[in-house]
Amino acid sequence: MNQTVETILKRRSVRDFLDKPISEEELQTIIKCGLFAPSAKNRQNWHFTVITNKDKIDEISKQAVDGMNKIGLDKEEGYHIFYHAPTVIVISSKIEGYSEINAGCVAENMALAAKSLGIGSCIVGQTRYLYHQAPKPDVNSLLKIPKNHEFDVSICFGYPTDDEIEAPERKENLVDYIR
Ligand SMILES: Cc1cc2nc3c(=O)[nH]c(=O)nc-3n(C[C@H](O)[C@H](O)[C@H](O)COP(=O)(O)O)c2cc1C
Repeated sequence: MNQTVETILKRRSVRDFLDKPISEEELQTIIKCGLFAPSAKNRQNWHFTVITNKDKIDEISKQAVDGMNKIGLDKEEGYHIFYHAPTVIVISSKIEGYSEINAGCVAENMALAAKSLGIGSCIVGQTRYLYHQAPKPDVNSLLKIPKNHEFDVSICFGYPTDDEIEAPERKENLVDYIR
């Protein structure tokens, strides 16, 4: 199988990481692949906040869990939205057309780049629950989201403890053809 297709098919959401940081070179490759994502009208209207400070990652997770608890999405004691991964990238984008889709392209580019380097990743939408426990300007300041930008999604990275995660079953009958 061609390597790109294999990387796409074998990428899994990783939720258990080794306690070992990814290298700066690997991080920069992942960021570069994010920056080379396609964007509508080539606006590249995104911003990445790269977090490797463990205390900050833990604090962000705690605040998100507090937000989940506040709205009744109770999580078990010790739940960590980033699964204790050593690196988190928060993707935000300017509030304008297609920016969320652009951000999604970024996230997948990063996840695939990581997979190709032997690094696990998980896209973490749960980061948005931060906004349920603190005012938006405070959360945006914590996440270093620039003015006129809005949070889209986070993605966490680290070396996986298990390289053979089974793929969740894919739905059928989602494709029609007009030939
Ligand atoms: C926009 C988005 C948000 C997600 N948010 C979370 C999340 O908050 N926590 C989590 O563990 N997984 C999250 N995931 C991962 C999905 O659960 C995962 O992609 C799906 O179950 C399919 O599994 P796979 O990625 O291994 O193919 C998210 C995925 C996407 C695309």
